[in-house]
Amino acid sequence: MVSPPKLRLENLSKTFTTDNGDFVALAASNLDIPAGRFVSLIGPSGCGKTTIFNIVAGLLPPTTGRVLIDGEDATGFIGQVGYMLQKDLLLPWRTVLDNVALGMEIKGTPLKEARERALPLIQRYGLGGFEHQHPSALSGGMRQRAALLRTLLIDMDVILLDEPFGALDAQTKSKLQEWLLGLFNDFGRTVVFVTHDVEEAIYLSDEIHVMASKPGRIVEALPIDLPRPRHRSVVTTPRFMAMKKYCLDLLHDQDPQRSAA
Ligand SMILES: Nc1ncnc2c1ncn2[C@@H]1O[C@H](COP(=O)(O)OP(=O)(O)OP(=O)(O)O)[C@@H](O)[C@H]1O
Ligand SMILES: [Mg+2]
Repeated sequence: MVSPPKLRLENLSKTFTTDNGDFVALAASNLDIPAGRFVSLIGPSGCGKTTIFNIVAGLLPPTTGRVLIDGEDATGFIGQVGYMLQKDLLLPWRTVLDNVALGMEIKGTPLKEARERALPLIQRYGLGGFEHQHPSALSGGMRQRAALLRTLLIDMDVILLDEPFGALDAQTKSKLQEWLLGLFNDFGRTVVFVTHDVEEAIYLSDEIHVMASKPGRIVEALPIDLPRPRHRSVVTTPRFMAMKKYCLDLLHDQDPQRSAA
């Protein structure tokens, strides 16, 4: 028997009712993500990427359709996936250590044990010395790192990351990409990743889904068959650059200003 995909979006759509009438943020969309894949969603601002994540995380009811995890209906259930929101949402009254430990704590790990797991990672990934500070003492990039660590430590099979590296400087971003690839190789999670950075999407992913807006929808699936483990030097290979050009052209075609012209 063929096992179901780890995550399936089945006929999923979202229409918001606003003062100006109904707005279709996401037209009926289907997506299958097999277990252990790294899948990116790219598309223009407002094409419904965060809306998809909010629905998958059970925070927003879809207008039509279902979310299935391992073939089971998970629509509207909170706590089935790890989710790093586009805004980091660290709790200002908790220390960095206790923010990173928070996800584990919510899942039932005693705080002492959660801290013991979090501390070495905090030290290894550039937040050493800040563990007992509060988030207000961190730079934007450091806050993102803390939020990412918190999400990865929740130990869920499916992890949703909404532009986790968007606010980082190039060097930190590149370091964290390597780190995330390492974690992905070691732990075999299923990752759904949103980014505006085409090169980042290709470098990290097994598959990219390109979206368009008005209405938000998935327009193309691109398999990224670069071998793993990946090395940074892959970005200058002709194959990589050809894929990048293809993606950029697709996104350019979605540009509303261009369509209007
Ligand atoms: N609660 C809401 N009520 C009305 N419209 C909404 C609501 N939430 C989102 N939208 C609209 O739905 C569309 C999709 O929003 P969404 O946040 O999913 O976009 P996105 O692809 O994540 O964009 P970005 O790349 O800027 O983060 C946008 O046009 C947005 O204004
Ligand atoms: Mg968004």
